[in-house]
Amino acid sequence: MADQLNDTVALVTGASSGIGEAAARDLAARGATIALVARRKDRLEALAAELGGRTLVIDADITDRSAAEAAVARTAAEFGRLDTVVNNAGVMLLGPAVGAPLEEWERMVDINIKGLMYVAHAALPHLLAAAESGPRQVADLVNISSVAGRVARAGSAVYNLTKFGVTAFSESLRQEVATRHVRVSVVEPGAVATELTTHMRAEVREVARARFADVERLAAEDIGDLIGYIVSRPRRMALNEILVRPTNQAG
Ligand SMILES: NC(=O)c1ccc[n+]([C@@H]2O[C@H](COP(=O)([O-])OP(=O)(O)OC[C@H]3O[C@@H](n4cnc5c(N)ncnc54)[C@H](OP(=O)(O)O)[C@@H]3O)[C@@H](O)[C@H]2O)c1
Repeated sequence: MADQLNDTVALVTGASSGIGEAAARDLAARGATIALVARRKDRLEALAAELGGRTLVIDADITDRSAAEAAVARTAAEFGRLDTVVNNAGVMLLGPAVGAPLEEWERMVDINIKGLMYVAHAALPHLLAAAESGPRQVADLVNISSVAGRVARAGSAVYNLTKFGVTAFSESLRQEVATRHVRVSVVEPGAVATELTTHMRAEVREVARARFADVERLAAEDIGDLIGYIVSRPRRMALNEILVRPTNQAG
């Protein structure tokens, strides 16, 4: 496993915690050189120190279009290429739509949709170039959606809106670049034990906690491992969409 991604470069957004941090660890363990992107620089620096090598720390708010573009450009400039992008940064602010704070909706659209879009747009030319001339002749864009990108529920309206959007965007892009050997994959996790729920208002967090009280959550490493698996498949094989729930999460 250690040399599967040798000589390749991966950029991971939201690498300061949870799934992004786990994905960065997994891709590094498979041999990739990594650019870590998020706002909490101290967390990124600690991870970079752990990963060693030429790991790049980029503290950027990807809702800022120029910052997202600069993160991609800096990675390509520093390492000379970009083979893999894990578009993972996101926020989940649940609760009833009626009377919801509009700022929460705007935040989800800004990060989950616009931030992901900015990174994808900036990265695609590099991924196409990597697929054409890179060591593996294939490149990967892995977008993190959610079960909420496949199943809508009351109390999740705008999170559903953003994640259905990510799922649809990924499938459309996949069809567009498939013949050029850029694999676009969408991962749709169920409940994973991360910091994701800590950003919600207390009363909403309690409702979400109660809904998943009996569910044995996935670990961030489970999804990190899945992302590493997707990216390290042979050139002929593309995992287009993976819906992954904890075993005892029914819905
Ligand atoms: N946990 C779950 O149950 C679950 C289930 C399905 C899907 N997901 C999806 O998985 C992804 C990762 O979430 P997680 O569970 O790992 O939660 P998390 O631990 O809260 O991680 C979210 C990451 O996004 C980054 N981020 C947030 N806003 C950002 C911004 N404006 N610019 C750059 N980075 C930003 C955060 O870093 P900074 O705060 O340092 O910027 C953090 O690294 C999200 O897209 C989420 O919707 C999670």
